[in-house]
Amino acid sequence: MTEIIRSLTALRARIRDWRRTGAVIGVVPTMGALHEGHLSLVRAAQAECDRVIVTLFVNPRQFNSPEDFAKYPRTEEADAAILAPLAADVLFVPDATEVYPPDHATVISVSGVSEPLEGAHRPGHFDGVATVVTLLFNMTQADRAYFGEKDWQQLQVVRRLVADLKLPIQIVPCPVMRAPDGLALSSRNQRLSDAARAQAAVIPKVLFDAVEQIGGGADRALVLDAARRRLTDAGLGPVEYLALCDAQTLGNAQPGRPARLLVAVWLDGVRLIDNVAV
Ligand code: PAJ
Repeated sequence: MTEIIRSLTALRARIRDWRRTGAVIGVVPTMGALHEGHLSLVRAAQAECDRVIVTLFVNPRQFNSPEDFAKYPRTEEADAAILAPLAADVLFVPDATEVYPPDHATVISVSGVSEPLEGAHRPGHFDGVATVVTLLFNMTQADRAYFGEKDWQQLQVVRRLVADLKLPIQIVPCPVMRAPDGLALSSRNQRLSDAARAQAAVIPKVLFDAVEQIGGGADRALVLDAARRRLTDAGLGPVEYLALCDAQTLGNAQPGRPARLLVAVWLDGVRLIDNVAV
């Protein structure tokens, strides 16, 4: 059974017990509204760690719009139920006042990798992510943390943060889980109408086709233009970005280095992101 812990004192007591037995601890940070994408991270953590903590905290600091924060699904009971068959050791659901007491004054800000793409379109977002991830790492004292490649830029920001602050934690990337039609699983998909949900399947198709064309030697700028047009012709938009980037720095793709094709596009009032390896 997964134990629900809400206070840092109780979490620390549990961790002290585990440490005495030499257990390797894994953490899976989430904002809840759990789906198969999250569960794949939990399974990966369980395969490699003796104890697994799933954190559930809808982090107010990473929402650049109060409206988006208000609309974010909060489904703790359903989350506990969906997690039950996996039997993670702890579901840590901290209180906002414990994470950010009124006198909290420290912000972690990662420059460079956090600036383009999501950083440019969601000011302050990655400061919020970097700050809460650092807090969650310190609260859970985990040895390993599991992140989805779905949020590719977030993963690179977290890696930079861990390297720069010399945090004693290993970041483990996990592949994007997709619906049968290819759409990346996301809690935001629930907000799409049935018609929009069907339209959304064009996003992964456009990405995978573009990667194939680029791999076949086609002109990159032309491929990106055509891909963008295909999205808007299918009724999606605006396209915030569709960019071919260096996989690690998120700067311009460089010859001979791994690249990533990333997209953020609006559909039916919902902002969707996806990315694929090039
Ligand atoms: P959230 O959106 O809940 O995602 C939690 C983790 O699940 C992230 O690492 C994300 O990349 C991963 N994930 C989501 N959908 C996935 C999919 N389809 N396939 C694989 N992994 C997927 O990302 C956050 O929360 C927050 O920013 C957080 C890191 C918890 C900090 O607040």
